[in-house]
Amino acid sequence: MSPELEERIEVLCSPYTHKELLKASEDLTFRYHDKKSHDTELHRVAYLATRMPATYAVLSKVLSEVPLPQTILDCGAGPGTSAWALLDASITSLTLIEKDLDFVKLGQKLAPTTPFNITWKTQSFLAFKERAELVLFSYSLNEIPQEKLTEVIAHAHNQTENLLVIIEPGTPEGFERIRQIRAQLLSLGMSLHAPCPHHNECPMSGSDWCHFSARLSRTSLHRTLKKGSLGHEDEKYSYLIASKAQHTPRGARILRHPIKKKGHTIATLCTSEGVVQKTFTGKERKKLKWGDWVID
Ligand SMILES: C[S@@+](CC[C@H](N)C(=O)[O-])C[C@H]1O[C@@H](n2cnc3c(N)ncnc32)[C@H](O)[C@@H]1O
Repeated sequence: MSPELEERIEVLCSPYTHKELLKASEDLTFRYHDKKSHDTELHRVAYLATRMPATYAVLSKVLSEVPLPQTILDCGAGPGTSAWALLDASITSLTLIEKDLDFVKLGQKLAPTTPFNITWKTQSFLAFKERAELVLFSYSLNEIPQEKLTEVIAHAHNQTENLLVIIEPGTPEGFERIRQIRAQLLSLGMSLHAPCPHHNECPMSGSDWCHFSARLSRTSLHRTLKKGSLGHEDEKYSYLIASKAQHTPRGARILRHPIKKKGHTIATLCTSEGVVQKTFTGKERKKLKWGDWVID
């Protein structure tokens, strides 16, 4: 996270005690579980301190996986996390749709000076009229009723000129939404860029789920509020990048930490033939990591 963002978050948190922020961030975990949004200013500020560093790290990682177009529309923007993650990107406009006016105000206070235009829209993303070359949902589909999901994705598909990027928590529940959206986007004729290396039916089965991990350094405030002594945290996420432009994926994707043995590494891969285990013996085996692409 940039020192500038860290400093701004600390300033916005400064009217509250650590105890208040900690209580509010624990409360948020229960609220998300019950599909509820942020209720008080303290909840929103606690989001900045405890969740935004993680969603920022995931957004930065996911958005680096595809060449970015000029115009981006972020649905459920919260405090404008994407504006920070896109700070160094060569884009011309970012539209942030957020239904919670207080989050919009907080995001505007927090916002960086950007080389691109930012437009905030205080409205629901259930029926937005704006269009962009890339439409993004980052941790924002959790709060909508399950029966609305297909409709929201069909609308987003209509409104994007090309790309759709969807990020969800890396939990079985988050992945189930991604799996459902993946099937819908394929039926609408979209191509997948990531994480899937093929357009076949998703081979994940049983109690397994497809998710990845982004490492972030913890600030001291973050460490205090997360009650952890580690200097970093690993945020788990599930995601999908799809485009209307045809794209042929290839290769395979490493689905979890490879097992490193003397002289060989065993990796679980998603491939067009399903989930398979492969043993690597070449020099490259030492560098293999969860989430890497392996080109056949
Ligand atoms: C967990 S926050 C994620 C914020 C940000 N995208 C991020 O990655 O840090 C989810 C946000 O989505 C917003 N949201 C949920 N449903 C919405 C809807 N139907 N229309 C607009 N915003 C919505 C909530 O108000 C909340 O600010």
